Amino acid sequence: MKIGIIIGSIRDDRKGALVGSWVSGAAKARDDADFVVIDLKAFDVPLLTSATVPGAANRQYDSEAVTAWGAAIDECDGFVFVTPEYNHSVPGGFKNAFDSIGPEWKGKTVAFVSYGADGGVRAVEHWRQITANFQMHDVRAQVALGLFTDFDEAGLALQDRREGELATLLDQLVSLTERLC
Ligand SMILES: Cc1cc2nc3c(=O)[nH]c(=O)nc-3n(C[C@H](O)[C@H](O)[C@H](O)COP(=O)(O)O)c2cc1C
Repeated sequence: MKIGIIIGSIRDDRKGALVGSWVSGAAKARDDADFVVIDLKAFDVPLLTSATVPGAANRQYDSEAVTAWGAAIDECDGFVFVTPEYNHSVPGGFKNAFDSIGPEWKGKTVAFVSYGADGGVRAVEHWRQITANFQMHDVRAQVALGLFTDFDEAGLALQDRREGELATLLDQLVSLTERLC
């Protein structure tokens, strides 16, 4: 079973890289699944302009970058979306990358680690609706990091309870993925 930890922010100096490292450190210490980091920024996914709807493209995409992104997603059985909240919703670059492929997501599992002034919870609520379109199965547990309570000038300054929250999230994700694989 392979779980992809997607770092969904592509900004320079993004906080997402810090959060992704924390999640992957905890995940890779486990022996119940293979965890891989999928850093969206590295794929340079272009804006979706293709005439063919990705869900109907039979994995034949116009762009090499999209093909590589789709292949990375295809290899996984489930995902942790590491997501910021932009303007009370999901980040546009990540949504564009989500939209740019299709069957690679279908029926797979997903859990959310978010961050923002209010923990990024509005982005996660929107992700739950978006991922439902590909019949993705989301776990209830989530980790919602506060910009003012889990970060300082030096980087992450996590509250004590976050480690346990992340463990619960990964437990639920692995268990659900096992049942669906
Ligand atoms: C375009 C944009 C919109 C934002 N909107 C929100 C928002 O609605 N809610 C929030 O909590 N933070 C918002 N922020 C602040 C982000 O939470 C903060 O910049 C965070 O570091 C973004 O994650 P990143 O650094 O991984 O890109 C916004 C940031 C950007 C760049």
